[in-house]
Order: sequence, then structure tokens, then C-alpha cells
Amino acid sequence: MPEGRQPPRHIAIIMDGNGRWAKKRFLPRVAGHKRGLDAVREVVGACKEMGVGYLTLFAFSTENWRRPQDEVTFLMDLFLRALEHEVSKLHGNNIRLQVLGSRARFSAELCERIDRAEQKTAGNDGLVLSIAADYGGRWDIVQAANQLLQQGATEITEEALSRQLTMSWAPEPDLFIRTGGEQRISNFLLWQLAYSELYFTDLLWPDFDRAALEQAISSYWQRERRFGRTSEQLPEHLRRDKP
Ligand code: IPE
Ligand code: IPE
Ligand code: MG
Repeated sequence: MPEGRQPPRHIAIIMDGNGRWAKKRFLPRVAGHKRGLDAVREVVGACKEMGVGYLTLFAFSTENWRRPQDEVTFLMDLFLRALEHEVSKLHGNNIRLQVLGSRARFSAELCERIDRAEQKTAGNDGLVLSIAADYGGRWDIVQAANQLLQQGATEITEEALSRQLTMSWAPEPDLFIRTGGEQRISNFLLWQLAYSELYFTDLLWPDFDRAALEQAISSYWQRERRFGRTSEQLPEHLRRDKP
């Protein structure tokens, strides 16, 4: 890491392109999902080493239930197995695991595993790894509004609503990455991405590695984050001189 540069505090990633990775190799789509898990391990390790505070990974959207039943079943099973096999290692690395999204459609076994993993790692104060599964940005905003209604709110403010979002405890993402070449948000963190720096790469998720992550972070360092202000209003160290 260049001297004096801080990594983004919060990185959010849409891990896309597993199916195409497999198709290119004449393999079934699910082989891409399996390899995608290897990329997750590498990126989690790299973020921990770099001192990233929060890493949020989009694993399964509210719309992904529309996929063929056997692919959905495979993904749920992969998630369950990953929780079984990876949580001890995450815990050993002082990583806190959180799962974001609705659990209403998950099996009892998966829900139980998620609870156990969250509880086991709850006291860790290293990297916070959030897995968004059966997550949708619209779902998140609607559940937040419903919670306000239940509390008897008569008016909704930005502050009150954002306090009810599933990730209210985390800073908003500084850097958003999407692999797989598509340039869209696909119902990921709609509210929280309002001022994130967006980075898109054609790399397919199973090919995304530490070097690719470093490239994304280098791009992030080139950005001037103005949050509505003018460049001249920013402190010197936050200004990026344009050629
Ligand atoms: C992302 O890869 C993983 C999930 C959405 C679960 P895809 O499965 O969407 O891969 P492509 O986009 O079809 O290549
Ligand atoms: C977004 O990828 C969701 C995840 C990576 C979990 P999709 O592959 O589902 O997105 P679309 O359908 O191409 O927009
Ligand atoms: Mg896709």
C-alpha cells in the first residue's frame, strides 16, 4: 500500500460472472459458484491484511430465487457448507460474520447455522464480513419503513430510516465493485451506495484476486470525493489534481 494511503473503510462487492466463467470452460454453472467461493477466501484474506474495516459481499439477491430450482438448491447448499467449514477459520482470524437479508425462505438448518456463526464471531473486532443473501436494496428500505410504522412513527426522516436499515451499524460503502462486466446495481445496497465510488471490471468473479482488488483500490485512490461540495472546499489531502 502506498505510504500515507488508507484502504477504503468499507468495500461492497457484487460477485458476478460465475455462470459465464463455467460456461467458457464447458462446465455446469454451479462449477463457477464453487470456484467463486475460492475467490471469496482470497478477497477476505486480502481485505483483512490491508486493514479494510467492512467487506460486504452480495451472494444471493431477492431476484435470484427466479433461477432454475437446481441452481438455487446448489447455492443454498454451498452457503450451508461454507458456514460449516469456514467459520472456525474466520473466527481464528478475528473476523466478525454477519448475514444480511430476509431469512424467511431459508431452511431451518441454514437459519440455525447463520445464527451460530454470527454468535460465535460476535465478539471479534477485526474485519466485519457481511454476506448479503436473500437481500435486496428495496426489501431493506421497505423493512426499515415498516419498523418505523410499528414504532408508531408519524413522519419519516432520513436519519430515522437509515437507523433501521440492516447495516445501520456500518459506515456506508466507500468503494463498490462489480465483476462480470455488467454496469448495474441489481438491487444491492440502494440507499447505502448513494455516495460510494463505483468500480466495474470485466473480470469474472472466480478470476477476481488480490491483484484485481488492489487495482480497484488504486482506482478508488484516484477519485475525488466531493459529497456535493466543490473541489476547492476540500482539505488539501482530499483533493485530486486533474490533468
Ligand atoms: C453471480 O454469478 C452469483 C450469483 C448471482 C449467485 P452469476 O451466477 O450471476 O453468473 P453469470 O452472471 O450468469 O455469469
Ligand atoms: C447480482 O447478480 C446478484 C449477485 C451477484 C448475488 P445477478 O447475476 O443476479 O444480476 P443480474 O440479474 O445480471 O442483474
Ligand atoms: Mg450474473
